[in-house]
Amino acid sequence: MLDPHAIAAEAVAVLGDIEDPAILEDVKARYLGKAGSLTELMKQLGKLDAAERPSAGAKINEAKQQVEAALNAQRDKIANRELEKKLSAEALDVTLPGRGLHTGGLHPVSRTLNRITDLFHSIGFDVADGPEIESDHYNFTALNIPANHPARAMHDTFYVGTNDVLRTHTSPMQVRYLESHSLPVKVIVPGRVYRCDSDMTHTPMFHQVEGLWVAENVTFAGLKGVLVDFMRQFFEQEELRARFRPSFFPFTEPSAEMDIGCVSCGGAGCRVCSGTGWLEVLGCGMVHPNVLEPLGIDTEKYIGFAFGLGVERLAMLRYGVNDLRLFFENDLRFLAQFR
Ligand code: FA5
Ligand code: MG
Repeated sequence: MLDPHAIAAEAVAVLGDIEDPAILEDVKARYLGKAGSLTELMKQLGKLDAAERPSAGAKINEAKQQVEAALNAQRDKIANRELEKKLSAEALDVTLPGRGLHTGGLHPVSRTLNRITDLFHSIGFDVADGPEIESDHYNFTALNIPANHPARAMHDTFYVGTNDVLRTHTSPMQVRYLESHSLPVKVIVPGRVYRCDSDMTHTPMFHQVEGLWVAENVTFAGLKGVLVDFMRQFFEQEELRARFRPSFFPFTEPSAEMDIGCVSCGGAGCRVCSGTGWLEVLGCGMVHPNVLEPLGIDTEKYIGFAFGLGVERLAMLRYGVNDLRLFFENDLRFLAQFR
């Protein structure tokens, strides 16, 4: 009979070189399977003398255990090697340089809105907002612009159904705010407005900031002071010149438009100001009694001023942008300059 230990030694040597799990199973069958060499030895035990059988059987069992131990060890080794291969293939090199992630930034119109809001807030104005779909009543009638009044033609209105419009200005919030707050009020209302209008200085959607101050001692001189101070701080020009031209709005009386000395040429005349040296920046005036009285406000006691400025207009001047439409094209090469 063959020596079981010699067979086991041979098996252990063969197993140590195997890398493929399938081959490992083949080799297992060759030694321990139904027709495996150690199994065959076991079958031959019966032919031995009874006296020799126990020790021969014990030897075979030892040999089988050695082969099994070697098999298990090799199986573990293969599994570990596979795991390591997988881990190193999936490894992240945290020392590699990044792929240039760009930081975002606020849109120039948002920056301008924030700047305007901060400046007015710092002198005691509250900040409110209101609906962009507005009723005909608030957008026009309550502002002293009755149906069929020619002043409606000053606004190129988008209608939403028969009674509602996309608000053409932030002035409807004058009425809404007075309806829901007790006097005195001192508030600004930044927001989007819409007009059916499009060229280099007009877009169908733009932003306005409405200002409203209603109290006992409000004066036109006070209105001028607030607005001139604001413009000087906004443009960071202490000596910025300003003038008020008579104008017309149905909801203010008297009404004015404010011009500032051209921030581009300093008043000498250039393309930005069409050679006049002046730039129109907003409309304003003393709130008309026809707006206040229907709200139950005693116009002998209370007086108010209001103004409405175009945010894009101020952004264009502050940043030296000559075409309003650039603000709405979302060209990253343009926007990235404002980070
Ligand atoms: C008004 O809208 C009045 N509600 C302003 C007002 C408020 C007057 C309170 C009195 C009291 P106006 O239509 O002029 O007025 O617009 C105000 C500003 O909005 C303009 O000076 C201009 O800067 C800006 N603006 C007007 N139309 C456009 C447009 N299509 N695109 C961009 N900006 C515009
Ligand atoms: Mg105007």
